[in-house]
Amino acid sequence: MSTQIPKTMKAVQVPKTGGPEVLTLAEIPVPTPKDHEVLIKVNWTGTNYIDTFPLTLPDQRSGLYPKPLPFTAGQDAVGTLVSLPKVSMAHTSLPPLQIGQHVLTCQGSSFAEYMVAPWWQVAPIPDGIDLKEGVAMTTTLFTAMYLIRESYEVKKGDWILVRAAAGGVGLLLCQLGKYFGANVIGTVSTPEKAALAKSNGADHILLTSSPSSENVSTILSLTGGKGVHAVYDGVGKDTWEEDFEVVRPKATIVTFGNASGPVPPFAPLKLSPKALKVTRPTLGPFIAEPEDFARYAKEIFEIVQKGGLEFSIHKVYPFSAEGVAQSQMDIASRTTTGKLLIHVSD
Ligand SMILES: NC(=O)c1ccc[n+]([C@@H]2O[C@H](COP(=O)([O-])OP(=O)(O)OC[C@H]3O[C@@H](n4cnc5c(N)ncnc54)[C@H](OP(=O)(O)O)[C@@H]3O)[C@@H](O)[C@H]2O)c1
Repeated sequence: MSTQIPKTMKAVQVPKTGGPEVLTLAEIPVPTPKDHEVLIKVNWTGTNYIDTFPLTLPDQRSGLYPKPLPFTAGQDAVGTLVSLPKVSMAHTSLPPLQIGQHVLTCQGSSFAEYMVAPWWQVAPIPDGIDLKEGVAMTTTLFTAMYLIRESYEVKKGDWILVRAAAGGVGLLLCQLGKYFGANVIGTVSTPEKAALAKSNGADHILLTSSPSSENVSTILSLTGGKGVHAVYDGVGKDTWEEDFEVVRPKATIVTFGNASGPVPPFAPLKLSPKALKVTRPTLGPFIAEPEDFARYAKEIFEIVQKGGLEFSIHKVYPFSAEGVAQSQMDIASRTTTGKLLIHVSD
């Protein structure tokens, strides 16, 4: 199959720090893949909470997630493979890449008509998987998977607490928690989000509008006075102190996001009374090696094909500066559930 690759393309770029109004639809050169990279024609992409940080926290961009300007926003995509790498590809548990295949990746600049990604972080999408849902299988599902499999490995019968349980990552954490045999408690901000999280597997849902002392007592009483084995917390600053109250001795606090702001610095002695573990992971190191990415992708596709996961799509936004800006304002406004998609091309 031969595909005509244009010289230039449309991309939604961040030319300077500021609010969503700085996003610009620019005509820029189609990226040239390095030897280890492939070129992908983007069909679908999606908004992640992290996309909003350069916009909503401009004062922190140099410290929190620094990136040189201008840059093309977005990171994950479902698309069509246009070129193979110049280097030879090692054998992994995934089928080999072929031009013309539908693929997914979570490592690139995806709010664009074309993007490049390292060959080993690109997976062919098996037949029968919905391409739109494939976007929810990229950053959000890879993240939920490494959190549940590695950051704290869920065991049958564990009690876990999922913060922002109706969000993109949260809904998948609820489902995977149940899939691997845990009792899942979630926290959310509204009764509508509570109903959705419950229908995605959460056994108990607590509203963040209730007094913290009430929620702590409920979690302790649900767990026989002991507390949960692990907290998966993508909210950050606002829930950090409560996390210490709801975990049992020797538990793990997994702080993986800053939706309410980053957690403050703390002394290791804070962990001592309950002999706790705290981890602050990010996806990159879990998929840095070809077989690590391949193993997660393979397990994700197997669980999806067994019917073990459902995907909740909040809304599809147009591929324009306004569309991307709206999706970023929406995810930061706490009014969304599940995954926000952007349709780039058919
Ligand atoms: N470390 C990693 O590898 C990694 C990868 C992907 C995502 N993340 C992080 O995981 C978290 C979830 O990401 P996502 O893309 O799935 O987003 P999301 O959960 O769909 O949206 C964020 C949610 O956070 C909750 N929240 C609590 N306080 C908030 C505040 N002050 N402002 C805004 N939201 C607040 C809201 O849920 P309620 O209204 O129910 O409280 C909101 O819906 C984010 O912190 C993100 O940065 C980390």
